[in-house]
Amino acid sequence: MGIRWMGQALSSPFFPVCHKMAAKGDVCGSEVFSVQRLMIEGGTPLRGEIPVHGAKNSALPLLAAAVLCQGETVLHGCPQLSDVAAACRILTELGCRVRREGHSIFVDASSVSNPWVPDDLMREMRSSVVFLGSVAARLGEASLCFPGGCELGARPIDLHLFGLRALGMEIEERDRHIYARTGGRLTGARIRLRFPSVGATENILLAATLAQGETILENAAMEPEIVDLAGFLTACGARIRGAGTDTIVVEGVDRLHGCEYTVMPDRIEAATWLCGCAAAGGEILALGARADCLQSLLPLLERMGCRIRVMPEGVLLAAPARLAGCGQVVTSPYPGFPTDMQAVLMAAAATAEGESRFTETIFENRFRHVAQLEKMGARIQVDGMEARVEGVPLLHGAEVEATDLRGGAALAVAALGALGVTQITQLRHIDRGYESLERDFSAVGAKIVRI
Ligand code: EPZ
Repeated sequence: MGIRWMGQALSSPFFPVCHKMAAKGDVCGSEVFSVQRLMIEGGTPLRGEIPVHGAKNSALPLLAAAVLCQGETVLHGCPQLSDVAAACRILTELGCRVRREGHSIFVDASSVSNPWVPDDLMREMRSSVVFLGSVAARLGEASLCFPGGCELGARPIDLHLFGLRALGMEIEERDRHIYARTGGRLTGARIRLRFPSVGATENILLAATLAQGETILENAAMEPEIVDLAGFLTACGARIRGAGTDTIVVEGVDRLHGCEYTVMPDRIEAATWLCGCAAAGGEILALGARADCLQSLLPLLERMGCRIRVMPEGVLLAAPARLAGCGQVVTSPYPGFPTDMQAVLMAAAATAEGESRFTETIFENRFRHVAQLEKMGARIQVDGMEARVEGVPLLHGAEVEATDLRGGAALAVAALGALGVTQITQLRHIDRGYESLERDFSAVGAKIVRI
């Protein structure tokens, strides 16, 4: 029985390539080498509603915050992603009782006891460094290995350590490990970040909630995920003012209780859906998308010729027959244009009429998707931190590989509007940030299958 997806047999005319591959697999005998790939046949305009799930980059710090709570926390709207599963494994290792029911995660941190985040989990997910502040503040000590860099660049954590030390945490860096001790209770402080790091803001905010006295954090990150974290902590009894501005004030409390909370919608996933429709054509409603978190993207999509309507249920986008270029886009900390949206917008701009220019100011290595887009016929000149896109009438299908999470999503966006079939491999990158790209895009008519 041939492989079937969404009721469509791979032997159907849409999947000639998969059919051949499946046959080749049989020829290899019993051991078919299982390389998962997405097969996308472009050219079908998207139509319908596509759900936006809970934000990965909010669920992760919220799960770390649960360590601070002496009681049970319930988080609704947690996306089913490998990174979220890794965070749940860390919580269990720390001594929390964790269970998952669909998109809800129940964490009881009453008996958290172990201050050590296992190395293998740190290496699986570098953003686990956000556990440093909450574990040390709750247990008086914490130990984890250096998170190290990733596909996007070096990813230092000097700002995290600077802020936590300012709160009185003694941090030793030895053998690629971090050993932190609070020597009793942390003490509130005035801290000014040289750069509004999202992770450092989260780590400092988590540790400051249980410190003695007041903490003033200046040049703090203003991302919506920071506001979500402050909302959760406040629901647990923390006293926080100014989240979402560049100055956050925390009045330390003795203890935090659990709470029930719903994770905010994923603004990067919403951007992916909207850019996918801009590239493929058609009209979709990104269900649950919050326009206020997309305020730097929506005007660009309108400039490119898309019709945007903000509805109570989400954001509606109708694509033009052909996009216009988006002009100059410079990524910067919120409320500037988010670096996480750069790749998916570039993918849509690849077939726009005219030129689009992207300047990446956040990460030193965030143009790795360009070479893959060029395999599909895109014309992009990279010069240092700037990428100049000269729109072409149409891209064509190709065999490409995901280089990182958002770069991989960008390839799917480009493939939806391309002529022919595109194969995307290295799906582990994409699966870190999307529950099922193929399920969600298929729901609005895209011809996309995972084999
Ligand atoms: C968060 O990473 C997100 N990850 C990233 O999303 C996102 O791209 C980034 O914020 C920027 O918005 C999560 O929330 C899990 P930063 P984070 O600290 O916290 C430098 C995705 O696709 N820096 O704001 O690591 C750093 O090198 C991911 O979901 C220091 O120099 O971002 C980078 O150049 C990718 N020292 C810049 O700041 C530090 O101590 C931004 O980093 C910390 C950061």
